[in-house]
Amino acid sequence: MRHVTELTLTAKSPARLSADALVVPVHDDDGTAALLPDPGLEEKVSAALRDAIDVLDVPGQAGKVTRVPAPEGVGASVVAFTGIGPLPETPDAEQFRRAAGTAVRELEGAATVALAFGDREAQITGAVAEGALLGAYRFNRYKKDAKSGPAQVVLLTTAAKDKAVKDAVARARVVAERVNATRDLVNTSPRDLYPETFAQTARDLVKGTKVGIEVLDEDALRAGGYGGLIGVGQGSARGPRLVKLTYQPARAKGHYALVGKGITFDSGGLSIKPAKSMETMKLDMAGAAAVLHTVLAAAELQVPVAVTGFLALAENMPSGTAQRPSDVIEIRGGKTVEVLNTDAEGRLVLADALVAATEAGADVIVDIATLTGAQMVALGNQVSAVMGTEETRGQVVAAAEASGEQMWPMPLPEELRPSLKSSVADISNIGDRFGGMLTAGLFLKEFVGDTPWAHLDIAGPAFNEAAPRHYVPKGGTGVGVRTMLQLLENAAEG
Ligand code: BES
Ligand code: MN
Ligand code: ZN
Repeated sequence: MRHVTELTLTAKSPARLSADALVVPVHDDDGTAALLPDPGLEEKVSAALRDAIDVLDVPGQAGKVTRVPAPEGVGASVVAFTGIGPLPETPDAEQFRRAAGTAVRELEGAATVALAFGDREAQITGAVAEGALLGAYRFNRYKKDAKSGPAQVVLLTTAAKDKAVKDAVARARVVAERVNATRDLVNTSPRDLYPETFAQTARDLVKGTKVGIEVLDEDALRAGGYGGLIGVGQGSARGPRLVKLTYQPARAKGHYALVGKGITFDSGGLSIKPAKSMETMKLDMAGAAAVLHTVLAAAELQVPVAVTGFLALAENMPSGTAQRPSDVIEIRGGKTVEVLNTDAEGRLVLADALVAATEAGADVIVDIATLTGAQMVALGNQVSAVMGTEETRGQVVAAAEASGEQMWPMPLPEELRPSLKSSVADISNIGDRFGGMLTAGLFLKEFVGDTPWAHLDIAGPAFNEAAPRHYVPKGGTGVGVRTMLQLLENAAEG
């Protein structure tokens, strides 16, 4: 089990702390750093810190952390300045989330980290808490001796007893824990995480919560006509599963279905991938992991919206029993698909799950998937794509913006639809190579009926192959959880 960092609020003065490090934000003022207008520190401590900033030429740019020995009047050995960049006119939660995350991630050796971000509005203090806990994340499951990250994070604020502040921080704890647990699933070796064990993990996690679970195994899927999951999973010795999660609060304001792509390993199947492209393909279940943990977060926070989650789980492998390019399969509900490329497998398992979502009677369907390499060509590794019906697409983009995740609306041009035509089946699983993300979206659109729907392609953002940045570690990022949870909360408000 990953060790979970404990986060507490305190109204103590910095003098009465006993922490290893005290994190203090600084903003960038034309190339030099400055403490924020109301730092929430005693004047003599602020003065000493201002001196240190001047003498050492501390930078205030976002992403920069500078450590100095703590001055007198601070109950910590070290002060770590963390840059937030230029001071905005209205406070930007993501700026604070990132600055807290960078500092906590970089303070490798500290067991107790205190953060003095001053008395900010509840939403900002919540973002600081979230950033700190996301930055504290480590994945150590397979390491004999590894650093564990801080055991304790303490937020200093005189508003520690304020209800809005306490609620924002309580929410941040839940959000960070669900995002970090999503990261764990993505980072887990596909030797250990395959459809059966993923489903079992979901079973274990919902125990004692308000979330119900139903797992369709291979036989049930065959009997139910889930030809996408069966087709994709048939090359693997480890069969597919469809997990259905239900959260049904009293007096629910609406019903959302969340559908996640859960390919526990994507070799490409017989349309096999080059070795290099296969190296990261344990990430291909990031959508399903995000759905699982969003449903759990919604239940824990008692969001008054009904949620049905679907995890479409299969391992895409080449073998003597694998599906062949040119095989025709039948998706749940009866549509036939000519599988011309077995590496376009995500849309096949999602098709089954989307049909299941329409059968569940949801008012809105949101699917999330590491669906196409074309997403990375279009938007890169840090911005996810959102397609779908206009209103729902807009709601997802707005929720992303509010939660600090980067997502951008993309079209589903009817003009590309003819490229998906098959001469032998209702539809082919590949279309035009140009606009490959959009043809994938158009394929999915065939299976949602007239339910308002959004499709999130997170192929790039789900996994960070580059150096860690702010609160994002290497490997699984947990992208999608924050946006989908915010979407549900917004639905509860509206
Ligand atoms: N899982 C991949 C998409 C992917 C690629 C995710 C890179 C993350 C990083 C997906 O199943 C896939 O292989 N898509 C193909 C579709 C093509 C065959 C139409 C692709 O994008 O190349
Ligand atoms: Mn693939
Ligand atoms: Zn895939």
